Amino acid sequence: MLSIQSISSGYGQTLILKDIEISLSSSEYLLITGRNGVGKTTLMRTIMGLNKVMSGKIMFNSVDITFYKPHERALMGLGYVPQGRRLFPYLTVQENLLVSRSTFMNRRSRIFVSFEDMLDFIYGLFPILIKLLKKTAGSLSGGEQQIVAIARALATGPSLILLDEPFEGIQPSIVEDIIRALDGIKKKLMISVILVEHKIQNAWDLVDKVCVIDNGRKVFENYKQNTTMQNVLELISI
Ligand SMILES: Nc1ncnc2c1ncn2[C@@H]1O[C@H](COP(=O)(O)OP(=O)(O)OP(=O)(O)O)[C@@H](O)[C@H]1O
Ligand SMILES: [Mg+2]
Repeated sequence: MLSIQSISSGYGQTLILKDIEISLSSSEYLLITGRNGVGKTTLMRTIMGLNKVMSGKIMFNSVDITFYKPHERALMGLGYVPQGRRLFPYLTVQENLLVSRSTFMNRRSRIFVSFEDMLDFIYGLFPILIKLLKKTAGSLSGGEQQIVAIARALATGPSLILLDEPFEGIQPSIVEDIIRALDGIKKKLMISVILVEHKIQNAWDLVDKVCVIDNGRKVFENYKQNTTMQNVLELISI
């Protein structure tokens, strides 16, 4: 469903990602890891259309989206949970979720017919959201904000979600809630996930495939059954 073909990208004239190749099938979960500053977020931003592709091609569901704008990619089914969450802090949780409504309604292949059904499914995954709906996003704990950010991405009805360091700085109980929810999505919806994560122990059970980035290049890729967590940890340790 996603095929990143020899992508180079960066900021202005600065080249960060070099010749990246990644492919992902429907319902597959991919872990992308690597040390600080190696280009993981840049890769997520490039897939979302927030960084310009310098060379190479991105295919999504057999469509060449290399030059699509971010909102066009969202309409095609790409959901994004950015590093640091980027919620609207002065809007309530409910309002943050409603931001996704128009993308959901304009999607051609929707998982649920109505937005309300989509939200009900999300409340089932994260029951805590119901209690938080009237609170402003900025008043929530880091973990609660992360749940809202994931819920907001899910509410667009995506077929692929990009999660950039979703467990960064949040309490262990919410890490568990998020892992449980991501596992639930895997079982119930045909969604693919790309998870960028430093602490690979958190994500290991969830994913099918692992990819390591170093200095803007992909230096390792394998299905989980063909490698070990220790092997990957050695690749990303200094
Ligand atoms: N807006 C920007 N303008 C110029 N260079 C940037 C910008 N953002 C990031 N970079 C540079 O791009 C490189 C890759 O950064 P990126 O944020 O993609 O790394 P990362 O792997 O996500 O790091 P982390 O693990 O800390 O999240 C770094 O050298 C960083 O300094
Ligand atoms: Mg990053």
